Amino acid sequence: MPKILVIHGPNLDLLGTREPDIYGTTTMAEINEMMLEKAQKEGIEIEYFQSNHEGKIVDKIGEVPSEKVDLIIINPAAYTHTSLAIRDAIQAVSVPTIEVHLSNIYAREEVRQQSLIAPACIGQISGFGAYSYILALLAAANLLNRG
Ligand code: DQA
Repeated sequence: MPKILVIHGPNLDLLGTREPDIYGTTTMAEINEMMLEKAQKEGIEIEYFQSNHEGKIVDKIGEVPSEKVDLIIINPAAYTHTSLAIRDAIQAVSVPTIEVHLSNIYAREEVRQQSLIAPACIGQISGFGAYSYILALLAAANLLNRG
């Protein structure tokens, strides 16, 4: 069974009450539940990780080869715009990675319009709220079943 690691970056543990006009009211646990349902239908194993700490996210990505993860779905949150370390980690493990955002980062403040992570990813899904994660899972299933 192929295995996906879903990484939620800083403050995504606050989804549900965090700026609901931008991020919606769906909680991280509800997003995880929705993804699990789809993953089970696709015959994919799924693991979740959330951290507010850049180094912990880097460490987790570094464990991906030994954990036999086939694909990463990551919402790097604010680290999207600042973290060369996370990009380097993704490049180092060279596991296919999909970047996800709830909001459309290109329609927001200038500081959010650049992703340092995107060049290390296969593609990016941005702007569909909680459904962005489902779209990422469908893209992941397509990639994994193709391979
Ligand atoms: C976000 C967008 C980022 O700019 C922001 O820092 C987040 C969430 C999104 O999912 O829309 O924390 O990654």
